[in-house]
Amino acid sequence: MTSVLNHNNPGGNFVGYGNEVLLYFDRKRKFLVKLEQGKKISSDRGTIVADNIVGKSIGSSFITSLNVRGWVLKPLLIDYLEKGIKRATQVIYPKDLGFMILLLGIESGSRVLEAGVGSGNTTAVLAYFVKPLGHVYGYEVRKEFIEIAKNNIARLGLDKYVTIKHGDIKEGIEERDLDAAVIDIPDPWEALNSIYVALRPSAPVAFFVPSMQQLIKLYDALNSHGGFIDIKAYEILLREIELSPTSIRPATRMIGHTGYIVFARRVLKG
Ligand SMILES: C[S@@+](CC[C@H](N)C(=O)[O-])C[C@H]1O[C@@H](n2cnc3c(N)ncnc32)[C@H](O)[C@@H]1O
Repeated sequence: MTSVLNHNNPGGNFVGYGNEVLLYFDRKRKFLVKLEQGKKISSDRGTIVADNIVGKSIGSSFITSLNVRGWVLKPLLIDYLEKGIKRATQVIYPKDLGFMILLLGIESGSRVLEAGVGSGNTTAVLAYFVKPLGHVYGYEVRKEFIEIAKNNIARLGLDKYVTIKHGDIKEGIEERDLDAAVIDIPDPWEALNSIYVALRPSAPVAFFVPSMQQLIKLYDALNSHGGFIDIKAYEILLREIELSPTSIRPATRMIGHTGYIVFARRVLKG
């Protein structure tokens, strides 16, 4: 399957049947829909029939049965993360993932370790950045999550850049000389030897831990391991600014806490 995201757009700049599009009314009303013949798409902004959108240019507008204007957009990766992924586990939020990608230097061609895979949300983001030349090797201990993750990743057409293995990374990782790792498991300090063996010298690793107790335990373990340097920890706080013609000010609500990002680089011991 071709990736449904970005540059791979078989229909060019025109909307066709079978395309998945984002119907946008305002920042709170955005709908990810697959356009099928005769399909009616309804919301509190009215109804629009898919046939009235098909054939239009991406980026053009349409009018609903309630005379409200909407726009037809090509979905971005973040639209899929927000609306198109089934969540069976906690996931790492975009605010954290974006910084992790940069910290880890993930690029097309990177071979990346990931554990645990959970819902495949992070796996999909990694696959998006390593394609078309790289690969993500994901490990997950719970079989029931693997199917959910595979479906989520396949929905984005990113499955050929991902291998998911059923296994506990504390017991070992098969791959060697990997370029980077993202570790989101409850007890990462128990997996440091496996991660150390799987990464190439100098490769970065980013851990995601929700609590301060985990952060302290992980820091102590990284410090005493001897094979990791440049240990750093971050918390990302993202505050949206509400924009309206009469008032521009920070949003009243924000996500208070997701987790801490712990970064380290694997070096040769001794
Ligand atoms: C919070 S979820 C990961 C979510 C993922 N980062 C995402 O954004 O979709 C943590 C996952 O780690 C898995 N897990 C826990 N310990 C593990 C281990 N030692 N090896 C592999 N997977 C593990 C759990 O089963 C769970 O699915």
